[in-house]
Amino acid sequence: MIIIRYWFIAFALLLPFTAYAASAPSGMVVAAQPAAARAGIEMLNKGGNAFDAAAATALALGVVEPGSSGIGGGGFFLLYIAKEKRYVMIDARETSPKLAGYGRVYATQSSIDGPAAAAVPGLPAGVERLVSHYGKLKRADIAAPAIRLARSGFAVGARLANMIRWRSKVFNDSARSIFDKSRGALIRQPALADTLTRFARGGAEDFYRGETAGRLVADMQRDGGLVRLDDLAAYRAVEREPVTVDYHGFHVVSAALPSSGGMTLAHIFGQLQGDDLKELAPVDRAHLLIEVMKRAYRDRNAYLGDADFVTIPKDYLDPQRLHKLRDSIQMERTTPSSELTGFAEPIGASVDTTHFSIIDAEGNMVSATLSINYGFGSGYVSPSTGILLNDEMDDFATRPGQPNAYGLVQGKANGVAPGKRMLSSMTPTIVIGPNRTFIVGTPGGSRIISMVLLASVGFMMDETAPKDWVNAPRYHHQFLPDVVQYEEGAFSPAVAAELRKRGHTLKQVSRRYGNMQAILWDRRSGRLTGISDERGEGAALQQP
Ligand code: DON
Repeated sequence: MIIIRYWFIAFALLLPFTAYAASAPSGMVVAAQPAAARAGIEMLNKGGNAFDAAAATALALGVVEPGSSGIGGGGFFLLYIAKEKRYVMIDARETSPKLAGYGRVYATQSSIDGPAAAAVPGLPAGVERLVSHYGKLKRADIAAPAIRLARSGFAVGARLANMIRWRSKVFNDSARSIFDKSRGALIRQPALADTLTRFARGGAEDFYRGETAGRLVADMQRDGGLVRLDDLAAYRAVEREPVTVDYHGFHVVSAALPSSGGMTLAHIFGQLQGDDLKELAPVDRAHLLIEVMKRAYRDRNAYLGDADFVTIPKDYLDPQRLHKLRDSIQMERTTPSSELTGFAEPIGASVDTTHFSIIDAEGNMVSATLSINYGFGSGYVSPSTGILLNDEMDDFATRPGQPNAYGLVQGKANGVAPGKRMLSSMTPTIVIGPNRTFIVGTPGGSRIISMVLLASVGFMMDETAPKDWVNAPRYHHQFLPDVVQYEEGAFSPAVAAELRKRGHTLKQVSRRYGNMQAILWDRRSGRLTGISDERGEGAALQQP
């Protein structure tokens, strides 16, 4: 869905020719569910800023898109604070509970299903940080829409109905009684509404050290979860400096570790410094992007982890090293992954998580990707709090010994340790061009990074309509498996044939990946274009 408003063009024309609109004409929220986008707009209309809107949208998404994110999970908020001209990332990523110990190895499904898969939630601390440091409204204001939605309920849409069918077999009794509904039925979450009400009053203090903490831990202890009071008490949302990279007149600002997103984008654009993508024929551009993805994902899988716990090689983004990697790319032939030494992490096709993009009239921006990992996270709802817990432990290298799964270096850098954050692919990003700014992100597990890359390249090349940067069929290579996964239509028959000739194995995927939510801000005219992925059910709403 696209919403473009023209009225302010008249206003922009009144500006001197050289003056850029320093701010947007009004605010906009693009999110994966209309009710959550409305929650954000409600905050802007109340006099709140983009950060208040982000807090309200995040909490509301956790209620109306319960399989994808929530206060039982975590995420990353990339902020632009207009009056300070400063970017910062709030890292609300989950941490490993102490009881998981060091280097814990999980049997296949136990890091995915059930309470032991849950790490210490980060979202409540992230929301608290947003509101208390950057917002203008009270916690009670930003929590109100989510509380309302949890109490009065919302109707199950097509997307959620599918996810429920897929994951209901792992639901515990509480999750089943709340979520096991078919399309059109009402989901009410009274216990979650009470927990959110306590959060509105007591904030992170209640969640991590107060009544909610006590309830959550009692449930976890009884039902086999690993999170304890000291884990909750020790949790902190952390402010981190975003990763930035410049490419041919564009400035890319993206997520820092423990997300691998920004590092991988910087790795890719670093390799491409000497290439003008605009000059390349479609097949050469696709070939080159696949080859740089392959090399960047190899390094990601081998070397990245929580930088508070492991040392990232000093030359990881060294221009000379990246230049050498680029030099190893042959244009007429793909380099098989087996010829590139390194380790592999074929990350499973996890299917949920959420992204939203926000701008306000002052030019503050938020690009946020939030997750509970798989659809419905661990499938475990803590009965006394109504909180659906994440299964983010699976983002650690939890099966390091397995062939074709995790290698030794990957195992070490991203192994389990008490208090450590698991490596993420979530890539909330803001790309600043000469005249326009693009706020972008998506769910999609390991494919997130390549999706954000392709959309950013679409923005930079500016050869197609903005909606196509988001909606166009995508392709992806993550080093191993050594195949180019693509959505139908990603390549023309001629390009596909030529890529095969150059040695690529192409594999069409039956599912469509991602649910991108983006805003394009034309800083000359002030015009805002909101683009919500046609793969999903989201909405782009602009303040009246
Ligand atoms: O942080 C990560 O990389 C994953 N937990 C994200 C999972 C995800 O995007 C699933 N979505 N489709």
